[in-house]
Amino acid sequence: MTRRYDVVLTVYFSFVPFWGWRQVTVLLVAWTHGCLGVHYWLRARSNYHKFAPLLLTSATLLPVLALLGIWQGTREVLAQWQLHPEWLQMTVREGHVRDPSVNGPSWDLEVQLYWIYVVLLALVFVAWAARWLVERHHGLINIAYPGGRVVRVPVGCAVLDASRRARIPHAAICGGRGRCTTCRIRVLRGVDTLPPPSASEQALLDRLRAGPSVRLACQLRPRSDTAVLPLLPPDIGASEMRRRDYSEASDIERFVAIMFVDIRRSTALVEKRLPYDVVFLLNHFFDAVAGAVVDTGGMPNQFVGDGMMAIFGIHAGPHEACSQALVAAQLIHSRLSDMNRTLANELSEPIAIGVGLHAGNVILGELGYRDHFVLTAIGDSVHVAARLQELTKDYGCQLVVSDIVAATAGVEMSGFPVREVNVRGRAEPLAVRIVGAMNELVA
Ligand code: FES
Repeated sequence: MTRRYDVVLTVYFSFVPFWGWRQVTVLLVAWTHGCLGVHYWLRARSNYHKFAPLLLTSATLLPVLALLGIWQGTREVLAQWQLHPEWLQMTVREGHVRDPSVNGPSWDLEVQLYWIYVVLLALVFVAWAARWLVERHHGLINIAYPGGRVVRVPVGCAVLDASRRARIPHAAICGGRGRCTTCRIRVLRGVDTLPPPSASEQALLDRLRAGPSVRLACQLRPRSDTAVLPLLPPDIGASEMRRRDYSEASDIERFVAIMFVDIRRSTALVEKRLPYDVVFLLNHFFDAVAGAVVDTGGMPNQFVGDGMMAIFGIHAGPHEACSQALVAAQLIHSRLSDMNRTLANELSEPIAIGVGLHAGNVILGELGYRDHFVLTAIGDSVHVAARLQELTKDYGCQLVVSDIVAATAGVEMSGFPVREVNVRGRAEPLAVRIVGAMNELVA
């Protein structure tokens, strides 16, 4: 049977207060448990930090409002009771409170549920004991941590579980589900005896371009004594993790393709415009150009004035890097044409650009200050790409691309005029192709 809410409140907070407080406790425990689950589920998502304050506000307000509702309802019920004692009699009668024919079956059910709960609890303890016996049967190993701590765990225990058992702080944003890589460790001893990584662990390690001694602590289950070094700070956050993902590629020499994009006749574009309009136009422009770079696998790296530098190949080999850069050039042309059409009424003439594209070895490194770091490329190839972009003015073309890019991408560009250019810092002239419009490219 269903009961009126006033009857429920009367029973909970007047006849059997224990039931009322039990209900409040269950509500708070279940709600907190659910919120923690949602937090751990979402915290590695890229834009979680944007929605976190809103979710936290809702998570706090909802139970508070619910409890205030219970409190106010109970106050009203008790006030009625004081003013009209006959109302209490009516509540007891109509709500069948203290009516054994109604309450008896539900009380029996409650007792049965308590017993089921006790049995399940006992089964958990039995399972623990069984696991303890099985683990002892398979033997124990030592895992050494920095600072001289040694944790003794059963064979087959994941390193992350060993850290948790010994209460050693260990980063694990995804909670040990093999998704975030924040639990990564360097194995200092016993690398040869480790079980090989599973396909999914190997895929994540490949993404990090990790060496053979780097493993994921949540996936690695050593079978003999070993020593490990956690590689990330235990309190690392999701945004810091993304920065570190790039930094895995940092401070290394790498073959990449570098692209410089710059607006032609930008002075004419900005003069006689309000600063707000200039910002609006430039943001549209960077949306089109940087979006094309990202969509083809590159990374927009620096925005200076009305120009942009992009890197291709941070997570790809030379062939793929150069192919991506050439495809990006075509896509930039098409997105810029769309933008010029869309803003035709705003512009006295279509926005024109010059693009320089070169490839070679650079040092990828993180530069910045405190929390503000960006991964950038340093080296001769960067200066050459910038210089090729400048040359588009001299040649009156949209793109100047070095033959190195075309050859590495395996793209036939003999149909475009070739020039030998001298670039500062290079002993030999550099062969480049002059591309009038980037939609003529066939990548
Ligand atoms: S804890 Fe996330 S991959 Fe290991």
